[in-house]
Amino acid sequence: MPATVIVGAQWGDEGKGKIVDLLALDSDLVCRYQGGPNAGHTIVVDGETFKIRQIPSGVLRGKICVIGAGCVVDPEVFLAEVDELESRGLSTGVVHLSGEAHLIMPWHGAIDQASERRLGKLQIGTTKRGIGPCYADKAARLGIRVQDLLEPKILRQKIEVALAEKNVWLERVYGVPPLDLEEIAGQLEAFAQRIRPYVSDTSLLVDRALQEGRDVLLEGAQGTLLDLDHGTYPFVTSSNTVAANAATGIGIGPNRIDRVIGVAKAYVTRVGEGPFPTEIEGSDQERVRELGGEFGTVTGRERRCGWLDLVALRYAVRLNGITSLALTKLDVLSHFAELPVCVAYRLRDGTETYEFPAHQSDFHHSSALLTQRRATIRIERQGVRPSRAHTGRERLPVIVKVPVGGLDDEGVGLHCFESRSEPELAQGVRIVVPHRAHLVGRP
Ligand code: IMP
Repeated sequence: MPATVIVGAQWGDEGKGKIVDLLALDSDLVCRYQGGPNAGHTIVVDGETFKIRQIPSGVLRGKICVIGAGCVVDPEVFLAEVDELESRGLSTGVVHLSGEAHLIMPWHGAIDQASERRLGKLQIGTTKRGIGPCYADKAARLGIRVQDLLEPKILRQKIEVALAEKNVWLERVYGVPPLDLEEIAGQLEAFAQRIRPYVSDTSLLVDRALQEGRDVLLEGAQGTLLDLDHGTYPFVTSSNTVAANAATGIGIGPNRIDRVIGVAKAYVTRVGEGPFPTEIEGSDQERVRELGGEFGTVTGRERRCGWLDLVALRYAVRLNGITSLALTKLDVLSHFAELPVCVAYRLRDGTETYEFPAHQSDFHHSSALLTQRRATIRIERQGVRPSRAHTGRERLPVIVKVPVGGLDDEGVGLHCFESRSEPELAQGVRIVVPHRAHLVGRP
């Protein structure tokens, strides 16, 4: 299969971890190409629960794990995970950290928190892990990289230069206490000793693996709608989450990517602020949250819950070049007799659109046009009589092949074939969402 990208097709938390874990069994390398400890995966292996934020989940399967150049790394979180994994009997010798990845420094977290406080009502709702400030310094060419840990003199010099400026910001702009140079330098020097063995030329490592015909999974963090360029800016994360960035973030050519698996929940969740056309109104939101266990892995925050948004999903297919879709958590919806699905948006001027609005104000004022029917999602297996809405019976993940979003005579939206893991794609699954004629406005 060589290189496969796994990408979140919504606002993150789609259950990518589960899909990665499933596909990792048949892979040789599992790589992260962007993001940092803002992402959190909860994975259960042999009855044991692991919550990991920085290290690819492939480590739980003993696979070679890569944290690529496009990632940001909090050394404290990284080492805490190393300790946790080792203490539970897992080897971290398989972990390779790009020397080009940027380090999240203590001032990044402090600025992230202070900046959100200062924005008040306008805040983004970040994870407050220093992600944005770290990527900002990277773009401004003021960042400190993993490879700086290998050179104590350079490291200290860079910390000194950065801190001189950051302390001015912290004190004068944000009114919070400055950070202590000696304390930070001492801490980083200690981290450096422990991180050194993990630092590798990860671009070369992945390239060689591909040349040898080994299977490489490239795991995206967050989701498509949190992409810095194509997401719901400014309520996004600070890196490109889309599949194309897998090549840049790892350091391989785009033509090395063979397929792109999008992961979507059968409903939608979002943490943080920002418009959300299919957000559920009333007590059903709480019900979905409870049934789906929709609380953040990293922050513990309640996730906002919405009905499946096919407009946004089609957009994700377009942006990522998704070749297969893995649909998760269908079982949660089996508790609902009525299942609304958004097939189009109504814009401010009353027009309907099936395409994700390119202009922010159009999106902010979009209202979801929902189908609302008993058993809206129907799954048909090839050769088996269609069963209505057996969402609960389909223990997921189900991997379905796109095209997604074709409008046809019978239905709108997902129109997919094939299922389960790619090697077993023989069985057909078709998910049919009823026709536009059944559209109703937002209740
Ligand atoms: P940041 O990545 O911490 O800067 O947060 C920016 C936005 O991305 C906020 O809305 C966060 O809630 C969201 N976000 C970041 N990481 C995740 C994730 O793993 N899942 C879902 N949302 C996330």
